[in-house]
Amino acid sequence: MSRVLIVDDEKSMRITLCEFLKKEGYEAESASDAQMACQMLQDNVYDVVVTDIIMPRMSGIDLLWNVQKKYSKIQVIIMTGEPTVETAVKAVQNGASDYLTKPIDRESFIKAVHHASQIKLLRDEKAILEKQNRLHQKCLEEMVQKRTIALQNAMQGIISLLSSVVEFRDPYTAGHQRRVGNLSAAIAKKMNIDIKTIEFIRIIGYIHDIGKIAIPTEILSKPGILSPLEKEMIKNHPAMGYEMLTKVKLPEIIEETIYQHHERCDGSGYPRGLEKNDITIEAQILIVADVVEAMMSHRPYRPALGLEAALYEIMQHSDVQYDAKVVLACRDLFCKDHYAIDDSEHRIYFPL
Ligand SMILES: [Fe+2]
Repeated sequence: MSRVLIVDDEKSMRITLCEFLKKEGYEAESASDAQMACQMLQDNVYDVVVTDIIMPRMSGIDLLWNVQKKYSKIQVIIMTGEPTVETAVKAVQNGASDYLTKPIDRESFIKAVHHASQIKLLRDEKAILEKQNRLHQKCLEEMVQKRTIALQNAMQGIISLLSSVVEFRDPYTAGHQRRVGNLSAAIAKKMNIDIKTIEFIRIIGYIHDIGKIAIPTEILSKPGILSPLEKEMIKNHPAMGYEMLTKVKLPEIIEETIYQHHERCDGSGYPRGLEKNDITIEAQILIVADVVEAMMSHRPYRPALGLEAALYEIMQHSDVQYDAKVVLACRDLFCKDHYAIDDSEHRIYFPL
């Protein structure tokens, strides 16, 4: 049952009201002035305060402000004589639960206290529910965060594994995919492309030659000239990569970009001979990064050609074979920002 504090400087009133309440099953205590009430509120828990307005030193209205400030859920009922009814009405407008005019009628008094204690009970329940809700929300957020980290770790492992499988088959291009992934991400960043796309581009770069695992190692590492059939097998690796990844159900942009990474804007690329407008921006970036990194690296059939030759190649064929904006970004990256080829495996943030 609710606990009620009666505040009145008139002793007989305090005794009478406490008696009324106790008979109804309430726990009732009393204070002879507002200051004493403040002290009792500090030391005890109450649900309802019933206070007279006019009292020495501190008025019932001041007590109401105090309760509202410090114990906002406690309900306050104001008691008043005729001359202060207007003040009591204002007090209700400012947050008092109810007001009673003296002489106090037992039935109205109990009804007002009952109503106030019901409001207090509902507010307490609401506060408990809100607290539970906040806790539940926090638990959910923590769970989502843990699952996201676990998923990111799993994706990092999968990408790393796929990348190393290609290197295992084609050791002469060891690190090529990582370097292309990092260079592609750097070009994308230079082009002010959004973070999500940059992360996709890095991931795609790390596994873009995945289709090569379907090509025999002897062909991949053959130092001499390839036969037409061998050339056709090599040229088919973007399509093989596409087919493999469609089965994994990764975001479509990954497999599509891999499919397009040997295309050229003028339609001279392979395997589909796509033209500029059919090639995605992700693929345009990967194409340039792939060419530049490949020319800067040693191959079984030729030595490394160097940065100057690589930049000359892309600039010479800018807007013909390669996207002009990508070429400019790549050139500025090396010539203005002094980008150095990055062989490290970056932490992957798989866009979810
Ligand atoms: Fe390739």
